[in-house]
Amino acid sequence: MSSDRYASLVNSPVGNFIAPKVGLPQPVKLERYKPGQPVVTGKAFIGAAPGGRLGEAIVAALKSADVEFGYSEPGAAPEGDERYKALIFDATGITDSTQLRELWQFFHTTIRRVKTSGRIVVLGTQPELTTGPREATAQRALEGFVRAVGKEVRKGAAAQLIYVAPGAEDQIESSLRFFCSPKSAYVSGQVVRIGAGVAEAGPIDWGMPLAGKVALVTGASRGIGAAIAKTLARDGAHVVGLDVPPLADDLEALMAQLGGSSIVGDITAADAPTMIADQIAEKHGGIDVIVHNAGVTKDKTLGKMDEDKWSVLLEINLSSEERIDDELLARKLINENGRIVCVSSISGIAGNAGQTNYATSKAGVIGMVQSMAPEFAKSKITINAVAPGFIETQMTAAMPIGTREAGRRMNSMLQGGLPVDVAETIAWYAGPASTGVTGNVVRVCGQSLLGA
Ligand SMILES: NC(=O)c1ccc[n+]([C@@H]2O[C@H](COP(=O)([O-])OP(=O)(O)OC[C@H]3O[C@@H](n4cnc5c(N)ncnc54)[C@H](O)[C@@H]3O)[C@@H](O)[C@H]2O)c1
Repeated sequence: MSSDRYASLVNSPVGNFIAPKVGLPQPVKLERYKPGQPVVTGKAFIGAAPGGRLGEAIVAALKSADVEFGYSEPGAAPEGDERYKALIFDATGITDSTQLRELWQFFHTTIRRVKTSGRIVVLGTQPELTTGPREATAQRALEGFVRAVGKEVRKGAAAQLIYVAPGAEDQIESSLRFFCSPKSAYVSGQVVRIGAGVAEAGPIDWGMPLAGKVALVTGASRGIGAAIAKTLARDGAHVVGLDVPPLADDLEALMAQLGGSSIVGDITAADAPTMIADQIAEKHGGIDVIVHNAGVTKDKTLGKMDEDKWSVLLEINLSSEERIDDELLARKLINENGRIVCVSSISGIAGNAGQTNYATSKAGVIGMVQSMAPEFAKSKITINAVAPGFIETQMTAAMPIGTREAGRRMNSMLQGGLPVDVAETIAWYAGPASTGVTGNVVRVCGQSLLGA
């Protein structure tokens, strides 16, 4: 992995003195989750617009997660000068644009009390599920608020909007835990939709949420895929890593370390879907989590791109995923409350010169997630995507320095993310309690300026 020497320099004693004087960006070291840590490494503070419906659910989730919290009555400022690791605001009571003032009322007194790597979470109602245009307008406005707050807070703090469908109040805990914790270190300015659960979650062991589950991770031998395999194994899953024959040794070494198993093969091979399905059926009887991580770039401007660069990439990054899912679904090998997680890219959202093939494939991944979510819901399975931005891997280390530095700094965190940031987001989707989270695309990009 490449190292961010600039961040080390501006955070050295000399750099720390000079950087603010000459206006250099100063990325802070982001807090990341360490096993055994509390969900929130400090106190939370909660508030609500009058008439909100999530108060009880928020309090129940925070109590379950052992989070200490204070709260204010609508319109009242917090007493004293205490600082908070998380601010949580129930905005579901806002049914008209004139009531958006409630956001200002709560946050203008609390925002300066957010600690380094703090979290701001606003909860609302999906505009499409509101009772009429006035409420839909006001709820849609929350997006702009949260995205602007994400850009203002700095110092590693992050802001998200979680839309909770009426009737899905009991589904918020896994998302609240993730977005209030250091696991969401490099996620900011995102909008998540939670609906009624597609399956029964059953009892949850929050320390080992994937115990007893089997998780297939493609492209697992290195980079982001290796981080996903390690994180899912940390959460208790038996990981089945898949990678191409030239990387078989690396794959098998990692799987041995994680107590997992390996499938060596090329996902684009004609017999790959049956080969994968056969191995899962024989060795595990079924699968709980599928992470479509394997992917490649083959950059060239369109006029200079030969057919191979186009077709091979589309096969690896998109079409093979569709075929594997179809086979596993047709053979009923995806267990109830199963999870499919796809790795897209902000290039698939914003587009990128020299990446027409890659952006097409990664936008297609988003299309697959959104179109298949209702289909998979019928089989009690969720499907979601992560869209990473600039992540420090061998791939980004090989970029020319200008592009690399721009990628690192053009986001609210002023730095690149780590493979584990993508992996933690996938672990949140994969958790058995995230049964109401489907059809979502969450960017893991530090709120990059590229794209929406
Ligand atoms: N690194 C980033 O900044 C970044 C940003 C956005 C999206 N992504 C996406 O994240 C995913 C992982 O990227 P990475 O940076 O870890 O890349 P990487 O090249 O280090 O890893 C990709 C893995 O996929 C495997 N793979 C490729 N083709 C395969 C095939 N036909 N069959 C089986 N396995 C195959 C490779 O062998 C490799 O182990 C990719 O889908 C990539 O597009 C990465």
